[in-house]
Amino acid sequence: MNPLAQWWPVALSHELRNTPLACQVHDTPLVLFRANDGRPAALPDRCPHRFAPLSAGKVRDGQIECPYHGWRFAADGRCTRVPGTELGPCSKPLLDSLPSCEAHGLVWVGLSAERPSVPPVAPAEHREKLDTFWITDQVQCSLQDAAENFLDGFHTHFVHAGWIRHDKQRQKISARVRPLADGVEAVYSEEGKQSGLISRLFERERGASMGRFRLPGLAEIEYRDHRDRLNLQVSAWLTPCGDSQLRLFARIATARGWLPAAVKRSVLRQLFRVVLRQDRQILEQVSANQRRFQASLVAPLDGPQDLLGPSIRRLLEQGQPLVFEERQFDIWL
Ligand code: FES
Ligand SMILES: [Fe+2]
Repeated sequence: MNPLAQWWPVALSHELRNTPLACQVHDTPLVLFRANDGRPAALPDRCPHRFAPLSAGKVRDGQIECPYHGWRFAADGRCTRVPGTELGPCSKPLLDSLPSCEAHGLVWVGLSAERPSVPPVAPAEHREKLDTFWITDQVQCSLQDAAENFLDGFHTHFVHAGWIRHDKQRQKISARVRPLADGVEAVYSEEGKQSGLISRLFERERGASMGRFRLPGLAEIEYRDHRDRLNLQVSAWLTPCGDSQLRLFARIATARGWLPAAVKRSVLRQLFRVVLRQDRQILEQVSANQRRFQASLVAPLDGPQDLLGPSIRRLLEQGQPLVFEERQFDIWL
């Protein structure tokens, strides 16, 4: 699976309104804007005239206007106006437009001229009605490190001590790890409530939880109660921007219940902000340390509790479905 031939999320749908948005994906700086029909458009963020950033311009009539001399470009990259001249719209694009679409609350782009054949990777569906909100962030780390961090339970006792779990209050649980058509999944069972604050506030008794990674970059966790009702789902789409920067779009979903969505959102948002800041800090320390040891970098040493990390690494390196028999582990989490 060539990462450049996939859909990558680059913005939240509701963030892209009537002004241009700058973004960068896999080292390609882009400008996003909405055409007159409301559909998102993506062009290189560089005016072909004198290379001004188009994202600093304006959207006029569904076209992007350069901030420097006002040249205008349509969604397909054609120049439609050169102010001060009588030039009409040109027939050939001056900019290579990129495939773009909207799905699951996100704006997506593809990085090759062809539209990606596989649709944008979707969050797991539920029968419950959901209350959702978004948190976005940018972290200096690799996709591999962020995805593993997000799905790894064994750092939570230390990085998020007291917020998610305590090292002194571990419980024995069983985990099954199995391959998915486009990723890998761990299902944890027999886990009681976690010892941390988030669980005490927001969970009914826990039945099972899942952590899964799906190509090209969705990390997702899900907690369900004994009656298989959803407690919490966090879907984190991870987009490499370039320069080791990673963009995170996390959708937090809870089953609709008696607690008003706005109340849940304001409390959960604050808790997740803390947890994300803690993760960002350790991930950026890890990246900085990898750079310090760049000359003598060795492969990371996997432990028996690294249930998903090695599979995520192989998926990202090979871009192919993994083939292995479902495995079972007993762990102290
Ligand atoms: S640089 Fe864009 S119009 Fe001149
Ligand atoms: Fe974490």
